[in-house]
Amino acid sequence: MTRLYTHIKLLAGVQQPAQPLRGADLKNLPGIENAWLLTENDRIAGFGSMNDAAFAAYRNTAQTDCSGKIILPAWCDSHTHLVFAAPRENEFVDKLNGMDYAAIAARGGGILNSARKLNEMSEDQLFVLAWKRLEELMRLGTGAIEIKSGYGLTVDGELKMLRVIKKIKEKSPIPVKATFLGAHAYPTEYKEDHKAYIRLITEEMLPVIAREQLADYIDVFCEHGFFSPEEMNTVCTAGGAYGLKPKLHIHQLSSNGGLQKAIELNALSADHLETMTEKDIHDLSQSETIGVLLPTAAFFLRMPYQPARALINAGSAIALASDFNPGSSPSGNMNFVVALSCIQMKMLPEEAINAATINGAFAMELQNETGSIAIGKKANFIITKEVSSIASLPYSFGTNLLEQVIINGEPV
Ligand code: NIG
Ligand code: FE
Repeated sequence: MTRLYTHIKLLAGVQQPAQPLRGADLKNLPGIENAWLLTENDRIAGFGSMNDAAFAAYRNTAQTDCSGKIILPAWCDSHTHLVFAAPRENEFVDKLNGMDYAAIAARGGGILNSARKLNEMSEDQLFVLAWKRLEELMRLGTGAIEIKSGYGLTVDGELKMLRVIKKIKEKSPIPVKATFLGAHAYPTEYKEDHKAYIRLITEEMLPVIAREQLADYIDVFCEHGFFSPEEMNTVCTAGGAYGLKPKLHIHQLSSNGGLQKAIELNALSADHLETMTEKDIHDLSQSETIGVLLPTAAFFLRMPYQPARALINAGSAIALASDFNPGSSPSGNMNFVVALSCIQMKMLPEEAINAATINGAFAMELQNETGSIAIGKKANFIITKEVSSIASLPYSFGTNLLEQVIINGEPV
């Protein structure tokens, strides 16, 4: 099916960079004013200015008039925990009532609470819940997504989660990448025997994951009280032997040397980065590793935001993602992620949109498939309502400015 969009106020994100955008390049969001865009089946087949001679060839094709509206690439959300059994609103309210994190953890709350519930739920039920969330996210403009395991923490639980993600991948209209996060937390019975749990990961989980091709990446929550940089090294080295590249939870609560280890491991991305020293910022900027910032996690946990400006100024490649999960970011709304990154981290609207689209695609190795407007790429994009400028998106935070989301050339 051929579709033609005309009189687009601004066609934004017309680019195909060979590398993730970094430093001053991040604020360059190339676009065409008063543009047309052609899709053929699930692909972008052409675009240009309404004033171009080339447009004449399409004069008789049925047109969707986009006067006053902006078209931009769909969001590429490179860090989510989309598969979970239940929300944790009770912990949220307990915290509002003054209960602290330690007390909640002591009664089996947090990640272990999610793990208990996930282990009790069937694969089919988990799939139904995750699928509903995915559909909702597509309506909010998400056009590619990464999904992690990590709420199983048992051999059966982790494999069950990854099989759910595989099923989502097979059925999903948008590209999905799967990440194995068996090293999310130590189950209570392994609190005093880390080596035994790591053996479970490397000897019992990884071989099955590789055999059934259940994961694209490997992740570790590298943090005091969770996995040390050395333990992360062991898990990632074992994953590497099966071809799994690391995408890691780094420096959320503390600067513990995890970032330097992640860089040494050639991690595709180091995610979170709420707690960054000057040295950390420098080290990341000198590396190929993409820094994935998760501002809604900082917002929800009332933590300091990621130092986006310092990271950009130092020349790091950064992406934005939602971290959708029941504990620290119970929302996968990338529109709010973009708004928050501008309002609280002082990213420019163009920087935020690049970070949430093409750089997010790079953080999932999907840069040749999606994340920008380019011929041959997937026709996954957002058509806004009539807006005065691209800055309206973060400026009018909380307002739904999306008129239509197009996935594979079709309206969602
Ligand atoms: O990315 N930090 C580790 N993991 C999640 C939160 C997990 C949870 O609380 O369930 C995160 O923020
Ligand atoms: Fe996370």
